[in-house]
Amino acid sequence: LAERQGLLVGAAVDLAALYDPLEPDYARLLAREFNLVVAENAMKWASLSNERGQYSFTGADALVRFARQHGQRLRGHTLIWHEQLPAWVRGGTFSREAMLAVMQEHIQAVAGHFRGQVAYWDVVNEAVSDRGGLRETPFLRAVGPDYLEHAFRFARAADPQAKLFYNDYGADGMGAKSDEIYALLKALKAKGVPIDGVGFQAHLDSTFSPQQARMRENLQRFADLGLEVHITELDVQLKGAGSREERLEAQARVYAEVLAACRAVRGCTAVTLWGFTDAHSWRAAAEPLIFDPLYRPKPAYEALLRALGGT
Ligand code: G3I
Repeated sequence: LAERQGLLVGAAVDLAALYDPLEPDYARLLAREFNLVVAENAMKWASLSNERGQYSFTGADALVRFARQHGQRLRGHTLIWHEQLPAWVRGGTFSREAMLAVMQEHIQAVAGHFRGQVAYWDVVNEAVSDRGGLRETPFLRAVGPDYLEHAFRFARAADPQAKLFYNDYGADGMGAKSDEIYALLKALKAKGVPIDGVGFQAHLDSTFSPQQARMRENLQRFADLGLEVHITELDVQLKGAGSREERLEAQARVYAEVLAACRAVRGCTAVTLWGFTDAHSWRAAAEPLIFDPLYRPKPAYEALLRALGGT
């Protein structure tokens, strides 16, 4: 249904589950239900490398093959992020020039390795602090605020065809953090920095109202900057009062409303879920996904189908 309307519906992939012979449903549903995939962890810096210049792409390459076999597009996640860094990057002391060289080498190694195969890269992830301003990271500390623009330029050089994204959480609706990200990306664009898109993670819970948060309006203002807009890590934890059935219905409503917000904005081209089965989720206890742990569709799955015009 999504494919017919030019929309990408994606899922983050747990590589261990994908190749677990005891869970054949994982690969089967991933192949059947999604036209885009992203590695939940396998393309992060610490997953690929612990030593400078030494990379192992085995797991990530397997996902690239899976996507090719099933006609799925790939999102790359993520090149520059303060979490899941090798210890020598996280704890090291670097001059500005030394850190820029470290960033350039890493981006060249990874985006260069996947050149031509990753349609969208999260180049910089979560650079804005929840308290305002740029987040304290090893990159900000060594380089200063312009580490972001360097990251995007390095990425463009490493894979000129990939669309380059800034990605963040807690900015899905209108608010102080999304205002700050808006100003940041507007300034980057004005400077000619090669940034093509913005990702809204959308880690939500079932009491969230996309309408009250003015999500559509928020997505629209970023699209109006000329950025492609993606929902990148959608999941909806079960929360709130009421019966379990009511909470599952509320969860379904949030999924459908997020999808509707994206569809209402020209330039919003992908909705990616952070997993698809509650058997494999970073928040498994809160059952945030659209298939239950036994791979049965939940009300949220049916709601997405309806929102896409199915029955
Ligand atoms: O790989 C090791 C494994 O060898 C070890 O046995 C196991 C024991 O705990 O840990 C494994 O690594 C864990 C990894 O997930 C794979 O399961 C890490 O400890 C754990 O920290 C890591 O969590 C991931 C988290 O990012 C890391 O910060 C989550 O799976 C992943 O869902 C989460 O994803 C992030 C996005 O990248 C960015 N946005 C927020 C989102 C949710 O936190």
